[in-house]
Amino acid sequence: MKDPICRLEADAAARDVVDALTRDGAVVVRDLLGPDTLARFNAELDPLLAAARPDREFLNPAVAWFFGKRTRHLTAVAAHSRVFATEVLCHPLLLEVAQAVLGPACASFQLNIAHVLDRGPGAEAQLLHRDEMVWMHVPRPHPELQLALMIALEDFDADNGATRVVPGSHRWPGERQPEDHEIAVAEMPAGSAVLYLGSTLHGGGANVTPDRRRRGMHLSYVVGWLRTEENQALSVPADVVRGLPRRAQQLLGWGAHDALAAGGGYLGTVDLRDPVDLLAEAGLPAEAGLPAERRS
Ligand SMILES: [Fe+2]
Repeated sequence: MKDPICRLEADAAARDVVDALTRDGAVVVRDLLGPDTLARFNAELDPLLAAARPDREFLNPAVAWFFGKRTRHLTAVAAHSRVFATEVLCHPLLLEVAQAVLGPACASFQLNIAHVLDRGPGAEAQLLHRDEMVWMHVPRPHPELQLALMIALEDFDADNGATRVVPGSHRWPGERQPEDHEIAVAEMPAGSAVLYLGSTLHGGGANVTPDRRRRGMHLSYVVGWLRTEENQALSVPADVVRGLPRRAQQLLGWGAHDALAAGGGYLGTVDLRDPVDLLAEAGLPAEAGLPAERRS
């Protein structure tokens, strides 16, 4: 296997990250999370993952097969981790890159999914796939809908299941499968991330170590007018959202998608208002969704 992934530092210009993504479909950003952020994030995750059961319920048997029984999952990460909600989700470089990639096809983008996968020894390699296939009903070709990434929360190497990506596959016909030599392994130190487009083939590698886990954070941003893979509004309690910065609230699906200025319409309003404005004014009761004076 070769390693043709472009590697940039976290202080790289967003333009360079976007150029690499556009060209290759994938790029590694080293030290996206600094040591302090990484340590605080992992400290929040430790007890949550310790309590997670690998043999758990899933949407259906196909999803259960895809994830296998060797992985501890933490979903709705913004509901559990303030470091994620305030520092990772709103990372300036990620937001700048997401704006450049997704901005041409939307008025605003949002979080699609936030999912920590702690893959244990024996975890099998994932099927190589394109994340955007969850929106298979959108005909191809189409503008970029999704920017995804996997953050290494501990060192990723070929043995513990570093993410495999196929550079260039974002431009392939849907049916083309990669040769072995076209698959790159995103080995990277903890805190680094591999960013990829929704159209880029990728998958978790097999964890063939006898005793090492591989903790990674998968998240993706998507254009603001698409249904999200993880239902953020139902996954993150309103009481938690209320205590977050406005930008995080918007990304968690509480921002209206307002394309009126571009000649379109609006989506996601509450009482014909932007929900983040309602949050700022009065706070939405978690149990009811709307302040009492707005329910009549
Ligand atoms: Fe994926």
